[in-house]
Amino acid sequence: MLRNCRRVYSIQGIDGVSHGKTKISGLESVSCKGHQAESVSGITAEDGHGTIIAPKIKEFEMVEPMKHEKGGFASNGKFAAGGTINDTLGKASVDSIEDEAWNLLRESIVFYCGNPIGTIAANDPSSSSILNYDQVFIRDFIPSGIAFLLKGEYDIVRSFILHTLQLQSWEKTMDCHSPGQGLMPASFKVRTVPLDGDESATEDVLDPDFGEAAIGRVAPVDSGLWWIILLRAYGKCSGDLSVQERFDVQTGIKMILKLCLADGFDMFPTLLVTDGSCMIDRRMGIHGHPLEIQALFYSALLCAREMLAPEDGSSDLIRALNNRVVALSFHIREYYWIDMRKLNEIYRYKTEEYSYDAVNKFNIYPDQIPPWLVEWMPSKGGYLIGNLQPAHMDFRFFSLGNLWSVVSSLATMDQSHAILDLIEAKWSELVADMPFKICYPAFEGQEWRITTGSDPKNTPWSYHNGGSWPTLLWQLTVACIKMNRPEIAEKAVKIAEKRISRDKWPEYYDTKQARFIGKQARLFQTWSIAGYLVSKLLLANPDAANILVNREDSDLVSAFSSMLSANPRRKRDWKGLKQKFIV
Ligand code: GLC
Repeated sequence: MLRNCRRVYSIQGIDGVSHGKTKISGLESVSCKGHQAESVSGITAEDGHGTIIAPKIKEFEMVEPMKHEKGGFASNGKFAAGGTINDTLGKASVDSIEDEAWNLLRESIVFYCGNPIGTIAANDPSSSSILNYDQVFIRDFIPSGIAFLLKGEYDIVRSFILHTLQLQSWEKTMDCHSPGQGLMPASFKVRTVPLDGDESATEDVLDPDFGEAAIGRVAPVDSGLWWIILLRAYGKCSGDLSVQERFDVQTGIKMILKLCLADGFDMFPTLLVTDGSCMIDRRMGIHGHPLEIQALFYSALLCAREMLAPEDGSSDLIRALNNRVVALSFHIREYYWIDMRKLNEIYRYKTEEYSYDAVNKFNIYPDQIPPWLVEWMPSKGGYLIGNLQPAHMDFRFFSLGNLWSVVSSLATMDQSHAILDLIEAKWSELVADMPFKICYPAFEGQEWRITTGSDPKNTPWSYHNGGSWPTLLWQLTVACIKMNRPEIAEKAVKIAEKRISRDKWPEYYDTKQARFIGKQARLFQTWSIAGYLVSKLLLANPDAANILVNREDSDLVSAFSSMLSANPRRKRDWKGLKQKFIV
């Protein structure tokens, strides 16, 4: 079906599973007749001539169908049977916030041919405009997936991984332009459509959005990176390595890596992306080399390296990956890092230095140091800045980028502790009444007008512009556990618990102190619910955080120790690296 250069794909069409209609409490839903076990074919193998072929690869079983019968999302993403959220909230069995969160999380499950495949972004009965919150977002599913893994419910994660993999390899277009192969969608929707040639029957189709329908048409660069991170976590947690060893999954990993490692015009080892290509998915002045993408990229590189099967054909890719890991970590640790000492160094920078051994390589003018930062920088602590471009440092503190730099060991051990020190020192600004500020500070006035294009959703201290997002609790928790400082996360969870359930699990909070539920925040936002659960589960069992953590590469430790302790005027070229990267 080709509509305006856009296809709707049917996975069921690929593997020929039959479909039938079932009625659940008056709502029509779709199931795959006679299939307890669903077949997912691997379709992304290359035949050596650049053609994508579609081999049938082994079936996987849905051992324990999830709580569909107790209420959940039917194949078409609509709430199916078993009562409403209000009923659920009123149930006597919901006797703690955690129980309530589990119930809500299960109710957010989306089914595809009767099997759980993901979780809907939000299930807000009070919201009049659904937009795309009824879809399964890749990034939003990560905390859901981790919560299910930690609970020992592996099948939904396996199903999510394999089905999104199939979406990756499909042809996709925007205004007749095809984005690079390997891109993962931002989100997908399960649609129930009439079956060709049989008016009485329907089939489920997965309809992905690669950004071609998203507000602002933003490309989801983070999706593939999160997918790799979740894949590794699945293997580590379940012990089932058969998924990552599958030929189609190996091919999927390589396609993501190839897209990220492809040569471009760029001179930096950091990934160059457009504005809104990650959790902040609309204009917020983060185009260029935003920290969040770099931290996820680094983490995905290390996770992929662990999972890639050694074979002759992939040695070039692995070499490129290894070079990039070294160059990227050096670049971020050296040029994104800021603390009192570094700030003072920038304050005294000479500019217009033309030479290979310039100290001020990016020609940063000291006047760029924003007045708020002079006051804000604690004497103990530091952080990685949001973005670095020629003559431009984005000094805002972005939480996810900093937290995931700790988790992935993109930041050094000292830097990681300093990031947590800063969080403690700036608690009243970053946590206040609800963890955790997405970035600090907000753009205001003329700066807000110019940077966001006068975006009425991203007004100062709202949404992406300094709003507070409860979902970030889980990344905070992983970072704190990794650094053996779980008490910081525990304190944040206690603050969240005071109101998150009472406030109906909002997507985000507004104002400097996070005092209001966000202006346009959805309620019952799944990743707020799942983020809380992951934090609780990990704090109860800190060792489990290892499924997400990347330990420092020992080769890197020795390689950097000599460089980072040297004089700032040293020649900073990295002999072992390809010279095409500025490190
Ligand atoms: C908003 C957020 C994005 C999230 C989506 C679905 O667009 O900015 O990060 O994935 O909502 O919850």
